[in-house]
Amino acid sequence: MSSRAFMRTAARAASRAAARPQVQRRALSALANAAARPTVRSTSAAVSGVRGVQTINFGGTEEIVHERSDWPQEKLLEYFKNDTIALIGYGSQGHGQGLNMRDNGLNVIVGVRKGGASWNAAKDDGWVEGKNLFDVTEAIQKGTIIMNLLSDAAQSETWPEIQPYLTKGKTLYFSHGFSPVFKELTHVEPPKDIDVILVAPKGSGRTVRSLFKEGRGINSSYAVWNDVTGKAEEKAIALAVAVGSGYVYQTTFEREVHSDLYGERGCLMGGIHGMFLAQYEVLRERGHTPSEAFNETVEEATQSLYPLIGKNGMDYMYDACSTTARRGALDWSPKFKDALKPVFNELYDKVVDGTETQRSLDFNSQKDYREKYEKELQEIRDLEIWRVGKEVRKLRPENQ
Ligand SMILES: NC(=O)c1ccc[n+]([C@@H]2O[C@H](COP(=O)([O-])OP(=O)(O)OC[C@H]3O[C@@H](n4cnc5c(N)ncnc54)[C@H](OP(=O)(O)O)[C@@H]3O)[C@@H](O)[C@H]2O)c1
Repeated sequence: MSSRAFMRTAARAASRAAARPQVQRRALSALANAAARPTVRSTSAAVSGVRGVQTINFGGTEEIVHERSDWPQEKLLEYFKNDTIALIGYGSQGHGQGLNMRDNGLNVIVGVRKGGASWNAAKDDGWVEGKNLFDVTEAIQKGTIIMNLLSDAAQSETWPEIQPYLTKGKTLYFSHGFSPVFKELTHVEPPKDIDVILVAPKGSGRTVRSLFKEGRGINSSYAVWNDVTGKAEEKAIALAVAVGSGYVYQTTFEREVHSDLYGERGCLMGGIHGMFLAQYEVLRERGHTPSEAFNETVEEATQSLYPLIGKNGMDYMYDACSTTARRGALDWSPKFKDALKPVFNELYDKVVDGTETQRSLDFNSQKDYREKYEKELQEIRDLEIWRVGKEVRKLRPENQ
């Protein structure tokens, strides 16, 4: 369906909505501009309990969700008043979580290896050597809460030098279940006499930071590995809010790492890229021009239709499209599901049995892993589909 056809359909839906009640009308009139403008999202989740901690019925399954309203800044400052939070690693997550905690007024220090890219990035962000920027082991010695935000491969590599400093009374924090869950492969075995917790933001560190600056918050999951003090869960939730989470849902280290590795290899990144490539290649092989193949595969998806799914769900996106598009999509969706489900099952098995962890450790612990990634990303950049994308993006009115 072309963007024009979509706009026509959206305009028709908006005019039909003029006769409907106010709330519905507002939602539907937003349809015409839905990709660009936020709409009020109505949720089917039944909410009960006090604000802050809620039991939410997610499509029939009840789950506990914590909101940041339970942890206003004064309460965070009081709760962590005796803590020095040592953030180890200053990559994507270190940057986002660290700056958010600093802006929240907490006593945060950063530990990274001297002279590396992160050391310089931390200095650029205003961390001062000797005051709140230290070498990794020095920061761990000073900290009461140690946030291990090194890359997952580096967590494994540096564990022998870090472990001796994780002494009784400290808390160890991760943003991924990777290291402890796959401890046979990573050799990261957290001490049994300290609290070990997880807060995993569901997005890149850059988004953790940008949503915080906008006054919004990312959603994160939290989990407890060891609870020695009886306060581990509470501490995890408080830290989740401190690093910039809007709401936090419960998980376990195992469920977090399994779903995360699976999701990024699947629909979030690998699967969607594979699907784009397959569709684009067939269009090109069947004689379509590059711009047409790109528009029908990527541009319309990312600019028009996927934002509608994000705002109000799949049915809303279907409803915004022509009956012709809707009929075909409804018929073909089960075929894609059937074809892909075995691949997803194979992927899940490889995540759980550690194959994906081993692959990640082997690749990312190579000295030249950055150069090797760059080579692979260059190969993606050089693909016709993404070269076409670059030209198409230039044509967007806002880029002219
Ligand atoms: N990125 C995400 O979207 C995301 C989302 C949720 C959770 N997480 C999790 O958050 C954690 C941090 O991920 P990240 O993406 O922020 O990591 P990252 O950007 O890859 O950061 C890597 C950090 O590790 C340091 N490092 C790498 N090798 C090292 C070594 N051998 N010795 C000492 N330091 C080393 C780097 O320092 P140099 O600059 O000196 O190399 C850098 O500070 C991981 O557990 C990850 O799974 C990430």
